[in-house]
Amino acid sequence: MKKILSAAAICSLFFIGCGGAEEPAAESAAEGGAASELVSGYDLANGMEIYEANCAGCHAEGALSSPKTGDAEAWTARIEQGMETLISKSIEGYTAEGNMPAKGGNDALTDEEVANAVAYMVEQSAAK
Ligand code: HEC
Repeated sequence: MKKILSAAAICSLFFIGCGGAEEPAAESAAEGGAASELVSGYDLANGMEIYEANCAGCHAEGALSSPKTGDAEAWTARIEQGMETLISKSIEGYTAEGNMPAKGGNDALTDEEVANAVAYMVEQSAAK
């Protein structure tokens, strides 16, 4: 897990450092909401595929007390925990009001794929 988190960190540094054509993350966050900064450096296209195949079964409708994707009210406090916490809880699974299975129940997913899916969910669910 450490490995993927530091890979993501390096990625986002790369993103900012080499962003000649891109807006600096801080600037786009100020303009476009905090989500764009949070999820920069993740592969959101891959995240959407992983999400559709492995996570939407619960999260699309908020089944089993899961936070519904796109529901900012359900997500704001969760997002405040930070990406690293959201990702590690998604990889390892956890139980609070409901049961979030490790990797959404699909052990074949890599940590990176789970991280991308979380980033996709955050991007869809952050308050706009
Ligand atoms: C079997 C249903 C189910 C599936 C499939 C599932 N989740 Fe969840 N997930 C939950 C539930 C239930 C919760 C809420 C647990 C709680 O906070 O009580 C949750 C919570 C979360 C959270 C919020 C964590 C937090 O700290 O608040 C994230 C992020 C998340 N899931 C990501 C994923 C990802 C990524 C996938 C697919 C790889 C996935 N989930 C698949 C049921 C599911």
